[in-house]
Amino acid sequence: MIESDKIKLRPIEAQDNAKVFSYRRDSVTNKYQGFVPKALHEVDAFIAKNPTDFNQPESWFQLVIIKKESNEIIGDIGIHFIGDDGFQCELGCTLSKKHQGKGFATDAMKITIDYLFTSLNKHRITASVDPKNTDSIRLLERLGFRNEAHFKESLFINGEWVDDVIYGLLKSEW
Ligand SMILES: CC(C)(COP(=O)(O)OP(=O)(O)OC[C@H]1O[C@@H](n2cnc3c(N)ncnc32)[C@H](O)[C@@H]1OP(=O)(O)O)[C@@H](O)C(=O)NCCC(=O)NCCS
Repeated sequence: MIESDKIKLRPIEAQDNAKVFSYRRDSVTNKYQGFVPKALHEVDAFIAKNPTDFNQPESWFQLVIIKKESNEIIGDIGIHFIGDDGFQCELGCTLSKKHQGKGFATDAMKITIDYLFTSLNKHRITASVDPKNTDSIRLLERLGFRNEAHFKESLFINGEWVDDVIYGLLKSEW
C-alpha cells in the first residue's frame, strides 16, 4: 500500500466504476484528457483492461486516490511502465474538481514517485501535457519536473491536433 498522512493509493477495482465516472465524465475539467467517458460502460472497459500485475513492461496501471478522512475516491493516477528494460515510467493524474486546489495531487504524485524511485529503482519519470494545461504544469514543476521538449501538433485529441510538452525527472534529481 502506498500512502501518506492524508491519502492512500490502491489498484482500481470494478466497483469503483460509478465514482470514477462521476469525475472523469466532467468534460470541462478534463478537456486536455484523452479519456473522457460518456457512459458508465466505458469506465467498466477502462477498469477491465487494468493489468493484474503491477510493473509489467509496456502496460498502463491505474491506481485510485482515496482520501483517508472520508474513505472516498477523489481521483486517480496512471502509471505507464515504458519499454522492456523496466527503468522508465510515465505518470498521469486526475482529481475530481471538488478536491482540486488542496494539495491532494501533489501528495499523491509525491508518494507515487517516491515508490517508483525508491522501491522499484526506476531511473526516469516523464509526463506528457498540453501546454495550455496550466494546473498540470504547475503540479509537475512543483514536484521538480523539467520541461524537456515541446512537440507541435503531435497528438490528435478530441478532434483536434494539439501540442505536447514532455516533462522529465531523474532519480538523481529527486
Ligand atoms: C492536474 C491536476 C491533478 C492538478 O490538481 P491541483 O488541484 O492543481 O493540484 P494539487 O491537488 O496538488 O493542489 C495544488 C494547489 O492547491 C493549493 N493548496 C491548498 N492547500 C494546500 C495544501 N494543504 N498543500 C498543498 N497545496 C495546497 C496549492 O497552492 C496549489 O494551488 P496553485 O496551483 O494555485 O498554486 C488537476 O488540475 C486535474 O485533475 N486536471 C484534470 C485532469 C488533467 O488534465 N490531468 C493532467 C493529465 S497528465
